[in-house]
Amino acid sequence: MATALILLAAGKGTRMQSDLPKVLHEIGNAPLLHHAMMSAAAIAPERRVVVAGHGADAVADAARGYDPEVEVVLQTEQLGTAHAVDQARAALAGFEGDALVLYGDTPFIRPETLDAMLAARAKHAVVVLGFEAADPARYGRLITDGDTLERIVEYKDATKDQRAVTLCNSGVISADCETLFDLLAQVTNDNAAGEYYLTDVPELARARGLSAGVVRCDEAETLGINSRAELALAEAIFQTNMRAEAVESGVALQAPETVQFSADTVLGRDCIIEPNVVFAPGVTVETGARIRAFSHLEGCHVARGAVVGPYARLRPGTELSEDVKIGNFVELKNATLAEGAKVNHLSYIGDAQIGARSNVGAGTITCNYDGVLKHRTVVGERVFIGSNTMLVAPVRIGDDAMTASGSVITRDVPATDLAVARARQENKTGFAVKLFEKLKAIKAKRQKEGS
Ligand code: UD1
Ligand code: CA
Repeated sequence: MATALILLAAGKGTRMQSDLPKVLHEIGNAPLLHHAMMSAAAIAPERRVVVAGHGADAVADAARGYDPEVEVVLQTEQLGTAHAVDQARAALAGFEGDALVLYGDTPFIRPETLDAMLAARAKHAVVVLGFEAADPARYGRLITDGDTLERIVEYKDATKDQRAVTLCNSGVISADCETLFDLLAQVTNDNAAGEYYLTDVPELARARGLSAGVVRCDEAETLGINSRAELALAEAIFQTNMRAEAVESGVALQAPETVQFSADTVLGRDCIIEPNVVFAPGVTVETGARIRAFSHLEGCHVARGAVVGPYARLRPGTELSEDVKIGNFVELKNATLAEGAKVNHLSYIGDAQIGARSNVGAGTITCNYDGVLKHRTVVGERVFIGSNTMLVAPVRIGDDAMTASGSVITRDVPATDLAVARARQENKTGFAVKLFEKLKAIKAKRQKEGS
């Protein structure tokens, strides 16, 4: 059965106290909107419609950033959840299949839960996702009779008895697309909030002799973000989940609670991650690599057997091949290091390519920026770059070449050559002693004048 996703993302999120639309706030360095889209992606909906309103341009950009084929419709006034879904009516006209409504501010719905909802559609015309709430607070209450969902009552409209019900509405709902829009046409705003409630749909369905049912999930999945405090809580839950998944899949986390993940972090089996490592977006670490303590990685790929850190910074465009070694206080950006290359201490390597088994000495810097333009440094295979070499790009060092420590390399170095580019040393016989005496005399004179 084909499925159309309708993702509600028009709300302002007043309680966030922010200029940013609510669904663009991030957990794991990805907007809430992407998390909801990721949940839905697991059921591969044929059509994806995002309902945007507050900050619609930014929301549309973010949605397309995740899924270029997503359709974005506008809800210019936020008149309620039913009104929001109704904005997708024209886009989905003639669509044959199920519609599934998700909220853009609800990031933790599991794919298995959505599968269960779609499966339950075989039994019920309308399926609602519910959960047992520890503190039902202001959630809509699901009024059931055995297997049947009779209706949903919003907290504001509920009687005392109905408020005592702990089975609550997550907001996720599924029905045949055409049926859903038929029912939505009947929804009015005659209620305590004066809003068009999506929650009226089950009761309207039953009035037509259609059945409505509930699929239950864990409360943790339905956590919606309405405030900064909830966002911080969601971040903590997200991090806990990611750490658990990593450990489950064979990654060794030495101090799990100190490692920060992004939503797209990929760590291979048998990786060892030492304490206090941060994975910013776009990181893949392959099998058996070791990321040592206090390293920060972003937009990079680390191949098998590589060792990074402690205290290394891998910036976007870094590509480390097998068995590369990156040591402490080394920063890499847009740099490709071939198999077995080493940069062990205190270096900046940017816009560069380092050949297989080359060794870059301590304090080496690629001077890649001339104040206006960026330039490339290309180092061949089995090269030895002496400590404190400045590689003034654009520059190329041939295979099996060497640079002397402290060199400022401004011209290409042919293969097998040794480049020495520093002032020649001169030793002045006995001069140090004379200089010491002169300096001591100056100091003594000053002390005498001062007292
Ligand atoms: C809604 C449900 C409630 C449920 C709760 C779960 C209704 C009437 N109530 O209440 O039963 O327990 O969610 O969290 O559906 N939105 C729009 N346009 C609108 C209104 C809302 O896009 O005009 C979006 C919001 O941005 C948000 C979502 O829909 O992502 C839910 O809206 P919200 O106002 O938070 O609903 P609740 O009052 O929490
Ligand atoms: Ca809400």
